[in-house]
Amino acid sequence: MYLTREQERMMEGEKGVAVRKSMELLVALGEVFEAERLIPVESAHISGVSYKNLGDAGTEWLEEHASMGARCKVRATLNPAGMDMEKWREMNVTPEFAEGQRRVIDAFTSMGVEPTCTCTPYLIGHVPRRGTQVAWAESNAVCFSNSVIGSRTNRESGPTTLASAVTGLTALYGYRLDENRKPGKIVKIETDLETRMDYSAVGYITGKLLGRTVPYYKSMGKPDLESMKTLGAACATSGGIALWHGEGVTPEAEEAARHLDGLETVAIERKDIEEARESLVCDPDNPTYCIGCPHCSLREMAETAELVKGKDMDGRLWVFTSRGVYQKAVRAGHVKVIEAARGRVYRDTCMVVAPLHEMGWEGVATNSFKGCHYSVAHGFDTKLATLPDLVEGAAK
Ligand code: F3S
Repeated sequence: MYLTREQERMMEGEKGVAVRKSMELLVALGEVFEAERLIPVESAHISGVSYKNLGDAGTEWLEEHASMGARCKVRATLNPAGMDMEKWREMNVTPEFAEGQRRVIDAFTSMGVEPTCTCTPYLIGHVPRRGTQVAWAESNAVCFSNSVIGSRTNRESGPTTLASAVTGLTALYGYRLDENRKPGKIVKIETDLETRMDYSAVGYITGKLLGRTVPYYKSMGKPDLESMKTLGAACATSGGIALWHGEGVTPEAEEAARHLDGLETVAIERKDIEEARESLVCDPDNPTYCIGCPHCSLREMAETAELVKGKDMDGRLWVFTSRGVYQKAVRAGHVKVIEAARGRVYRDTCMVVAPLHEMGWEGVATNSFKGCHYSVAHGFDTKLATLPDLVEGAAK
């Protein structure tokens, strides 16, 4: 792989050990994928933050990296942690876990990473310009970047996003190149998509049908931002999709439409949506009712507040969002309304990366196919329902 003289000096350690190690990782990856060269990235979004997944070994690796002088060269935001950094006691998280999680966040912040702790950086002002190269991890954010914003990223990992944040570089391959952004199959939606959960189901079915192939959706209606975020989250989970095009919806759809000749078409009908839902649910006895996978937008907070008014959630409805949206929801009065109805609102974490078994959860009800998929994988009995039905189910 071609390296500039400055990049060679970075490889030789002229800018410190952390930069050298980061370069070694990026160059090794580039060589595996036969990248010609490294290119600059505008920003990074880093995953691998929950102490539940990192444990002591991962935490020590981060601390060591920070002590070697790793510092962000470009803007870098952080994925969800394993707990609300302030209200963790209320969540039933142990002090030992909280201490581990704090060490992780401290290590990241000492490297200059913004402790945003959200999987929806695009809802809190981290919105790259169309066509720019970024290094984002977290599959829903990757899908949103590539498909809805039009900024380019591969499905990065925690270590590679940190390496890109520290060097400002990434290897040029995959979805960064025009030729890999062309659609590989047409997905024709032959039913009206009435709820956001319908869009989530379409994403889930698409991932199952297409694997990693880029879909071009026809007849997908006019999804709102929340529908697009849940669709992307689901297709990245059941398959490995990192980019989708939607006719009349996404920024690169017009260009993508020039490459549809000869592509196979698959159809999604109402019965497929029902079958996908049934494949994941088994009616738990005592579920925790969750929304916010991916993290709630301000509009979802407002809708939830409206729905819970005059009802008693009895502590059974959990709402997950980012700090940025939480602050706005506090100012708008939504958090107060949800809490007055004995619903819970948490920041920084989510219904998958928190230590749910240790917190005493018995089952999960959600409107997110991604959230449901991981809940099943983590051994929970699960239920899928729309937001209004979740609120009804949680009500005492
Ligand atoms: Fe986000 Fe957690 Fe879902 S990271 S997309 S809320 S699994």
